[in-house]
Amino acid sequence: MLTIHTEELSTQALQQYLQAAIAPRPICFASTIDLKGNVNLSPFSFFNLFSMNPPVCIFSPSRRVRDNTTKHTLDNLKEVPECVINIVNYNMVQQMSLASCEYPKDVNEFIKAGFTEAPSELVKPPRVAESPIQLECIVQEIISLGEKAGAGNLVLAEIKRIHINEAVLDENKKINPAKLDLVARLGEDWYTRVTEQSLFKVEKPNTNLGIGMDQLPAFIRNHSLLSNNEKGQLANVSAIPEQLKTNNHVSLSDEKMREIKDALRENNTTLAWKIIETSTAHQ
Ligand SMILES: Cc1cc2nc3c(=O)[nH]c(=O)nc-3n(C[C@H](O)[C@H](O)[C@H](O)COP(=O)(O)O)c2cc1C
Repeated sequence: MLTIHTEELSTQALQQYLQAAIAPRPICFASTIDLKGNVNLSPFSFFNLFSMNPPVCIFSPSRRVRDNTTKHTLDNLKEVPECVINIVNYNMVQQMSLASCEYPKDVNEFIKAGFTEAPSELVKPPRVAESPIQLECIVQEIISLGEKAGAGNLVLAEIKRIHINEAVLDENKKINPAKLDLVARLGEDWYTRVTEQSLFKVEKPNTNLGIGMDQLPAFIRNHSLLSNNEKGQLANVSAIPEQLKTNNHVSLSDEKMREIKDALRENNTTLAWKIIETSTAHQ
């Protein structure tokens, strides 16, 4: 194990480790405006959702590591505390990256990066028309995390309007992640893309507590053909058949094991336990 004492590393070296480790990060593509009406558009991956009631997300335009100056986005928000957070999908990723260039303050990155301004309903900064989801926000508070180069500034943005392109919705008006085609930032120049192939489901533990790994029958807990993920799925049921709790002198054929694994791959834990129960019943 490499153990790092954060106070012993330079900000640049820390950045490499932490941005690679705390990833993937969603991208807040923020449009802001200053008091003179200059529009700005910049991406921030120090970003997430932190509250549902009220709905608040936070992003952080940091002080530049290079020269400890502040970003135009932050300066604008101090003048006009409103922004639109535009969600970034794969089709926009190269233009979004272009918008992160350090253009002078009076340069509008909508024009530089080739995006279309769409008027907002509530706030002054415009929306990115190409973005599949646009969040109109009122900034409630800005919390400075320090005065040194690299220090963050937490922008607490309350989401007031959500605009969603119908093309990313399913028939129940819910967002379909495969249609949304999100991108996210990792360390250095790496990004990731949410594709149909990269998506998988993990069943939520329901209100009944899962039995836990410690309560799995030994012949399951110690089975070399089941992965820890599969054992975790099997341990996430609220009860198992009584006879399985005590009967440990049982075995599962390779064929049954394949069926159990198939059921777990389909997130059908009930079926997996049924197969275990029936195939060990008379042993
Ligand atoms: C995908 C991506 C994510 C970024 N995330 C951040 C971030 O979280 N905080 C930050 O200060 N800069 C971040 N940057 C760099 C800013 O976008 C860049 O400094 C930008 O020019 C700031 O523009 P402004 O001075 O017009 O506000 C990111 C850049 C990219 C491409």
